[in-house]
Amino acid sequence: MTDVLERLRALQADDLPVHGGHTLAYVYDSGLPDIDRIAREAVGAAVATNGLDPTAFPSLLRMENDLVAFALRLLDAPGTGVGTVTSGGTESVLLAVQTARDARPEVERPAMVLPSTRHAAFDKAAHYFGVEKRIVPVGSDFRADVDATADAIRELGDRVVLVVASAPSYAHGVIDPVPELAALAATRNIRCHVDACIGGWVLPYAARLGRPVPPWSFAVDGVTSVSVDLHKYGYAPKGTSLLLHRTPELRRPQFFASADWPGYTMLNSTMQSTKSGGPLAGAWAVVESLGDEGYLTLTRRVFAAVDAIVAGIEASPSLSLVASPDSSLVTFETDGSCDAFSLCDEMLERGWYVQPQMSYAGHGPSVHLSVSAGTLAHVEEFVAELGEAVAAAQSTGPVSVDPGIAAYIESLDPAALTDADFDGLLAASGLVGEDSGGGLALPSRLAEVNAMLDLASPAMREALLIAFLDRLTRPTG
Ligand SMILES: Cc1ncc(COP(=O)(O)O)c(C=O)c1O
Repeated sequence: MTDVLERLRALQADDLPVHGGHTLAYVYDSGLPDIDRIAREAVGAAVATNGLDPTAFPSLLRMENDLVAFALRLLDAPGTGVGTVTSGGTESVLLAVQTARDARPEVERPAMVLPSTRHAAFDKAAHYFGVEKRIVPVGSDFRADVDATADAIRELGDRVVLVVASAPSYAHGVIDPVPELAALAATRNIRCHVDACIGGWVLPYAARLGRPVPPWSFAVDGVTSVSVDLHKYGYAPKGTSLLLHRTPELRRPQFFASADWPGYTMLNSTMQSTKSGGPLAGAWAVVESLGDEGYLTLTRRVFAAVDAIVAGIEASPSLSLVASPDSSLVTFETDGSCDAFSLCDEMLERGWYVQPQMSYAGHGPSVHLSVSAGTLAHVEEFVAELGEAVAAAQSTGPVSVDPGIAAYIESLDPAALTDADFDGLLAASGLVGEDSGGGLALPSRLAEVNAMLDLASPAMREALLIAFLDRLTRPTG
């Protein structure tokens, strides 16, 4: 019995650390061991319950309603506001799009208008639900372009079922002009969804601390729904987000019932049907324990860390902010002396995970940081080691992609990438090794792989990474 848990811990040895504030993407660390313990125990206490039937486990219904009520208050919703707990930001976004589509069944070819900086979850929603996406390039400040959005809405006419804004965007950490976008949508009676998955639990507390936060919540007229993730800056265990709507009528098409089969009547508010009550209980326990006071303290720590990191970047001649952060996300780029992908590798060698972002829409690679409260205790060390990592990346020099490999990638058609093409690329780039029995041999430093992907078009990156995922997920026996 204990043996298997030892094996589990051994398997986890190569994972990124989830505590200690050193992992600046994927995980959000409160730095409070008691909160982590409460979360774990709450998940454990409810893990075997089933959210399929809200009457069978009334504890789950109560916890969901408590979380929704807390969030509606936090995000300035009117008394009519309602919401649903989902499994994560992507599910909240998927449901926002599906709900907007199904609210307008008369529209034959539904479309949504999105800034080019929207999260990729909207692309997934477009793909799953057959909603056309009209991507509008953002302005030079990486914020949605209101005039261009107005043009797109005008052009698409009655087909538009949804206008989207981010608060903030993941890649650049800036907030779109929500009042203007929501007003555009409202004048045509179109829904406006604000994707606050990553910022929605931080921005209200940032405003209470006196930081400048542009309007983005339900306080803005015309905002019809908001997504906000508890498993990010709510510091809850993974598996919870909220999708909030201004009124019950706006939410209604999100619900699904089927009595047209011989079993129980299926009645779902989310994409999942059977779902563990564990994540919901974990989130509820964390939110009840921290409350407004706890989140205010954690947000103060987040911004103390953000300010120290921003000062460190501004003091470095080789680094510059891509945008001045509106929230807890910091994105910076490197100058020609320092390769961004090598810098990420150098940081990892020093125990810090920082996330590389590829070139996109005429902008070069950048480095993304989601700064948690838990990072503050180590922020001086972070800034010092960032400086060391810059120097190390400068001394190793820029990574270059073999011209033969670059030409090979260029010659491939992403729409028709075959296993043989992918094998050819792996072999040419040394990513398949004899030591690994002919399997994938990922190097510990990823700069060269990233540089190779950076050369490829977004469509080619998608095709290559899907082929890669296919290889990763074949059981080895
Ligand atoms: C703005 C935004 N929207 C949606 C998502 C998707 O959330 P998840 O990864 O929980 O599915 C993220 C994730 O980082 C995000 O930052």
